Amino acid sequence: MKIAILPGDGIGPEIVTQAVKVLNALDEQFEMETAPVGGAGYEASGHPLPEATLKLAQDADAVLFGAVGDWKYDTLDRPLRPEQAILGLRKHLGLFGNLRPAILYPELANASTLKPEIVSGLDILIVRELTGDIYFGQPRGVRECPDGPFKGQREGFDTMRYAEGEIRRIAHVAFQAAQKRGKRLTSVDKANVLETFQFWKDIVTDVHQEYPDVALDHMYVDNAAMQLVRAPKKFDVIVTGNMFGDILSDAAAMLTGSIGMLPSASLDANNKGLYEPSHGSAPDIAGKGIANPLATILSAAMMLRFSLNKVEQADRIEAAVKKVLAQGLRTVDIYEAGTTKVGTEEMGNAVVKALA
Ligand code: IPM
Ligand code: MN
Repeated sequence: MKIAILPGDGIGPEIVTQAVKVLNALDEQFEMETAPVGGAGYEASGHPLPEATLKLAQDADAVLFGAVGDWKYDTLDRPLRPEQAILGLRKHLGLFGNLRPAILYPELANASTLKPEIVSGLDILIVRELTGDIYFGQPRGVRECPDGPFKGQREGFDTMRYAEGEIRRIAHVAFQAAQKRGKRLTSVDKANVLETFQFWKDIVTDVHQEYPDVALDHMYVDNAAMQLVRAPKKFDVIVTGNMFGDILSDAAAMLTGSIGMLPSASLDANNKGLYEPSHGSAPDIAGKGIANPLATILSAAMMLRFSLNKVEQADRIEAAVKKVLAQGLRTVDIYEAGTTKVGTEEMGNAVVKALA
């Protein structure tokens, strides 16, 4: 089985190195090949998603991705910016189903910015549609404003749209995920304002007929944002569009104390997937050896579980992560008095040791 390793920018290479080390410490051996992506891709061959990198990802059984982006690329034309690499991979590989679990490990109950009684035991899953919505909708651009009080001025515009089949397939992913968990699904929309999301709500309601064992409710996105910080444990699985999912998943991630802990999976219709930490490239701490590698290590576990069918190995990694947390080892993002502060590499080594 072949894994494409795409470390990317900022802290990406440091954290991916630790995840690869953990994979190499398993009984199974995987063929791994590394390629540049994001700013690193731009430096190497003038494009954030070099053709050879895309081909490697297409030919692999799974992709382990670090993070992309650095302020120094902010002035490049949009098609050359690092973020285009991850957007291009999602689109080219058809990775429409994004699973973002937000789990609060008991050891980190005090790391959350919310009171422990609000968040302890938190275990929610955000299912974000990843290849549609205003992120990819055409037309988009800057043009002359055709009407209204600003007629004749320049205006920026994007297009929000969702095809029926696009909504149906992500709804199926979400209902099936809910069936394997608490059997409750909240579909998040803005049906009170947007045509696209009234349509979304209608289609999700229709798909629900095939999953009578799952309780479905609908929530406007503004209310969902509020409920996430008011009573987050009321949620089980949330399904929503690309942009709302982007925003809500960052909020949900922070409930757990550190976005540095959260993995994610982006899957196509056949469970081929790209796995990446939910956090970004954090250029401010890149190269300092202090980044938390656990989100990437846990992403590697998700990869074993969903794409490579190595459930036992995935369980082993997740157990090892729990063990190092129980041992009191903490990177700086989750450090608190009474625990032991460790760097990126020490944390990776501790997970390898805990596998045994
Ligand atoms: C994410 C990121 C990306 C997104 C960016 C880097 C394009 O924020 O994966 O959540 O908006 O999807
Ligand atoms: Mn995001």
